[in-house]
Amino acid sequence: MVKIVETSVRDGHQSLFATRMTTEEVVKLCKIYDNVGYHAIEVWGGATFDACLRFLNEDPWERLRAVRKACPNTKLQMLFRGQNILGYRHYSDDVVDMFCKKSIENGIDIIRVFDALNDLRNLKTAVESTKKYGGECQIALSYTTSPIHTIDYYVNLAKEIEALGADSICIKDMAGVLLPDDATALVSALKKNSKLPIELHSHCTAGICEMTYMAAIKAGIDIVDTSLSPLSNGTAQPSTQALNYALKGSEYDPKLNVEEIHKAEPIVTEIVNKYLKNGLLNPKSFQINPNILTYQVPGGMLSNMIKQLTDQGAMDKYEEVLKEIPRVRKEMGYPPLVTPLSQMVGTQSVLNILGGERYKLCAKEIKDYLHGKYGKSPAPVDEDIKKKIIGDDKVITCRPADLLEPEYETLKEKYKDLARSDEDVLSLALFEQVAVDFLTNKYNPKSDSDEFEMYI
Ligand code: CO
Repeated sequence: MVKIVETSVRDGHQSLFATRMTTEEVVKLCKIYDNVGYHAIEVWGGATFDACLRFLNEDPWERLRAVRKACPNTKLQMLFRGQNILGYRHYSDDVVDMFCKKSIENGIDIIRVFDALNDLRNLKTAVESTKKYGGECQIALSYTTSPIHTIDYYVNLAKEIEALGADSICIKDMAGVLLPDDATALVSALKKNSKLPIELHSHCTAGICEMTYMAAIKAGIDIVDTSLSPLSNGTAQPSTQALNYALKGSEYDPKLNVEEIHKAEPIVTEIVNKYLKNGLLNPKSFQINPNILTYQVPGGMLSNMIKQLTDQGAMDKYEEVLKEIPRVRKEMGYPPLVTPLSQMVGTQSVLNILGGERYKLCAKEIKDYLHGKYGKSPAPVDEDIKKKIIGDDKVITCRPADLLEPEYETLKEKYKDLARSDEDVLSLALFEQVAVDFLTNKYNPKSDSDEFEMYI
């Protein structure tokens, strides 16, 4: 029997309509999902935290508590980026520790963490803290293709993940480029070399995902991530219902409760229609794009690049930039193209082409990367390029977070007049200005009468 993790209320709407589902919608669905028989429901982390504060004027912690209340019987899962947590810099260990503690206290059972470079030193604190507070920790390996990302590379990584104390391993194919035969080889090798349960997370962006899932299932994968249709396919995960039907009666039958799924379907349909109507969900998100298999560039990165080139009036350079991406990636030591490396490599490729000379212009993040601030690159970076950009500067070789002083108490002190809980302090740590605005309004809402007076 293959187990299913339902992703519609996290990755589903994150991939299809910028994570805008409200807490009310999420809770409505989760009440039903609790009876479907899922291994877990992915409900939190990723972009949900930021979107709550920034766009929905909702407290992400209140969402988590509401979902927990609605789902007494099913495990709740979340995703975050190791030492980056959900923000855009490295946080000190005490902030990572407090974030794990509060996530588990507020209702999370399984914490999935990943690092863009597969540098496990960036996940060490997250694993230790998750275990310390009684959570299950899953480490996701960022899947990519390159001459160094061989089966042996992933098998060695899996062994290190096991040694680090993780409870399970996820193959995280964020770009949707894992091919069926490669999935067969990878899953077989991981199953042979690791005792841990293996999960597959991919996206339908390239149009091959269901074939890959089937290959992985036949090779013995334990868990797969799917999303309830119509919040599935396109840039999201394959359909929960379709996979359940495809496997029905076989030895892999996930045995989901179809009657309960039928109860959820009209609600999902209503939600999808709402976002189609208000324009946040572009029907193009449901179209597949097999070109990402040719260029090995995630869909989101392609659309970012098109926007940068359009803004510069340089769309005629599109093909040149596309050819530049694999060169930059090779020179940077083949980082997987996942946040934040996808944006960094994409932007540098644009700069290299538009700047007239390669690496004449260089983004600050690429300089930080070359200084070792993101961790160790999968393969060594090109020495000549490195020299051109950072000269003989000292490069960090230790775990980047070892250089960070504890910062939790400082943050708590800084916001002692605003934050009323550790959860508030964490919101401020992750999205400082957005959280200041949100919490100021939450605790001291501008009353209607004040506004009214302004206009009389
Ligand atoms: Co995903």
